[in-house]
Amino acid sequence: MKFFIDTGNVDEIREAAEMGILDGVTTNPSLLSKEKGNPFEILKTICEIVDGPVSAEVIATKRDGMLEEAKKLAEIADNIVIKLPTTPDGVKACKELTSQGIKVNMTLVFSPLQALLVAKAGATFVSPFVGRLDDISSDGMGLIGQVAQIYENYGFETEILVASVRHPMHIVQAALMGADICTIPFKVITQMFKHPLTDIGLEKFISDWKKLMGED
Ligand code: E4P
Repeated sequence: MKFFIDTGNVDEIREAAEMGILDGVTTNPSLLSKEKGNPFEILKTICEIVDGPVSAEVIATKRDGMLEEAKKLAEIADNIVIKLPTTPDGVKACKELTSQGIKVNMTLVFSPLQALLVAKAGATFVSPFVGRLDDISSDGMGLIGQVAQIYENYGFETEILVASVRHPMHIVQAALMGADICTIPFKVITQMFKHPLTDIGLEKFISDWKKLMGED
């Protein structure tokens, strides 16, 4: 399973990259709005740090506007992936960009039918939003299971990128379901390392060693 980080924060990206577990980055307009500086410059810096796909989202809602923005975003770096909303215009733009060999991440996916549509349009990645579904008492991870089954049934190559991840159990469930990628907020990445028995065990090893060395 690949791990992407879901942030526009360069410090968080650097730290996750140093851990050696980072395969890519997803941003969105809301995440970039939290950062200081020009978003195009921020995306350029991110693309230099990470050796993997970096999703950058358009805000146009019509096909032609999306394609214009996509062109500008794709010029930032070779590893930019264009993020498009899952609407009829988004799907049209997806078809066009993928036919030009540009990678596309279809975002704001909340149903299996939306996932089927974007796969048919040749999307590189599909981003079902699990946390936002959970927020409205729907089954976010259930959607991942459905998409995985549908893609397997028809041999679609679109990668399932689990988005709107809120806690470590989303990642466990996604891995058990065979999702290709999870995009994870920095806070949840740090939570993934945590286990109380690791902390207790480490403390004991250190204190026993210090006793042995007469250092306590
Ligand atoms: C990433 O591609 C999505 O934009 C992001 O995961 C959405 O997360 P949120 O629902 O926590 O805003």
